[in-house]
Amino acid sequence: MIDMRNDLMLQLVERRLLSAPNSQKEVFHLSFQKISGEDFDYQCGDSVALWPENSEQDVEKICHHFAIDGTQMVDSLSLRELLRIRHCITHLTEPLLEAVRQRLDEQDRENFDRYHHDNSLQTASLLDLIDLFPSIKLAAADLPLLLKKMQPRLYSIASAVSFCPNRLDLAVVVVCYKNFQNRDRYGVASHYLCHQLPVRKPIRALIIRSKFRLPEDLSRDVIMVGPGTGIAPFRSFLQERSFLRKAGKTVGRNWLFFGGQHRASNFYYQSELENWQNSGDLTNLDLAFSRDQDRKIYVQDRIEEKGQEVWNWLSGGAYFYVCGDATHMARDVDNALLRIVKRYGAIDDPESYLTRLREEKRYQRDVY
Ligand SMILES: Cc1cc2nc3c(=O)[nH]c(=O)nc-3n(C[C@H](O)[C@H](O)[C@H](O)COP(=O)(O)OP(=O)(O)OC[C@H]3O[C@@H](n4cnc5c(N)ncnc54)[C@H](O)[C@@H]3O)c2cc1C
Ligand SMILES: NC(=O)c1ccc[n+]([C@@H]2O[C@H](COP(=O)([O-])OP(=O)(O)OC[C@H]3O[C@@H](n4cnc5c(N)ncnc54)[C@H](OP(=O)(O)O)[C@@H]3O)[C@@H](O)[C@H]2O)c1
Repeated sequence: MIDMRNDLMLQLVERRLLSAPNSQKEVFHLSFQKISGEDFDYQCGDSVALWPENSEQDVEKICHHFAIDGTQMVDSLSLRELLRIRHCITHLTEPLLEAVRQRLDEQDRENFDRYHHDNSLQTASLLDLIDLFPSIKLAAADLPLLLKKMQPRLYSIASAVSFCPNRLDLAVVVVCYKNFQNRDRYGVASHYLCHQLPVRKPIRALIIRSKFRLPEDLSRDVIMVGPGTGIAPFRSFLQERSFLRKAGKTVGRNWLFFGGQHRASNFYYQSELENWQNSGDLTNLDLAFSRDQDRKIYVQDRIEEKGQEVWNWLSGGAYFYVCGDATHMARDVDNALLRIVKRYGAIDDPESYLTRLREEKRYQRDVY
């Protein structure tokens, strides 16, 4: 549960495409400042919760279809604003579906029951219902009561306060999916942040403190695994460690495993990473571009290719970090690590070894 007592207002100050224009994935670098102009106090590894808005176009369609007077005031907000910022129009409640069903004409109700029976309506948005059932009716006053509240989305912070005190950067991939009728849809927050949020418009935010932390002992080495937008917290780590090294501290070595579909379109932050390599801040950079050859190559393949060296770093006290997709990537990286520990460390029970690393906070994951 997100504690909303410390929320703040940010404004977008920069939006830049990180992926190439022809990439299958659209990934943006977003940079925010506090409206008040003050410096931030987040730490490397923290995330930010952001409250998105529904698209103006979608809300207009809803108002138009239900003949809603969008200017009507409810609790100091117009109905139009309520539908844009307070309510979720993509994940519907059972009471809303039931209210819709009751007011449909006979033919639409038969269709509704068929869709409901095969669970299609579980993922339907309000706009899908409008498209599907021409006789749909809902009273304006009921809508705020029947819709869920808009939930904030979390994003890993991709900058470090030491390096840029008044900035908070993110790397956000635009989520696209097919709805149950095979129509293209965007994720609410990623679409809003990447395509719609105007520069300088305030957006509500909250810093989420994380347990994903750099070693307290700066001299420790760190290995970071962050394909795709999973690179976000590692840009923050590298900014911090590079800053501290320049400030004269003894900072350990940094090793990044990064991956994407194609080198030409998905090598996010390429020039920054290469600069860190040239300055010696990034000791090793290993890349896995999955679709640049016939056989898929993933970060865990690169990790295994460098198994002996990974083991040398680990047995020398290195910290190991993973960020990004939990279901596939993080699980496969975990398996690769187990094989490395077994093979190069000659350890019969690699699971216990990784458990100990976790307990010592030397194996941390920021995945979901
Ligand atoms: C700790 C943490 C850190 C994160 N960091 C980052 C980051 O750095 N960068 C980043 O890009 N993301 C990050 N994420 C993911 C981010 O929080 C959002 O989940 C992501 O942007 C998708 O949100 P959305 O509102 O665009 O999509 P949503 O609208 O929430 O949709 C999400 C998914 O739900 C499904 N869905 C939604 N509506 C329907 C429907 N009507 N029918 C069928 N399916 C539907 C789709 O599969 C869709 O892909 C992070 C998440 C966590 C938990
Ligand atoms: N803190 C967090 O929890 C956090 C932070 C940032 C991002 N994320 C999430 O991380 C995920 C990555 O997003 P993205 O769209 O930027 O990445 P992506 O482009 O989908 O993936 C990056 C690379 O990973 C590859 N990949 C696919 N399956 C893999 C596997 N089993 N093991 C290793 N690599 C694999 C992809 O290859 P192919 O596509 O060719 O198979 C691609 O080359 C998203 O779900 C995002 O929301 C989470």
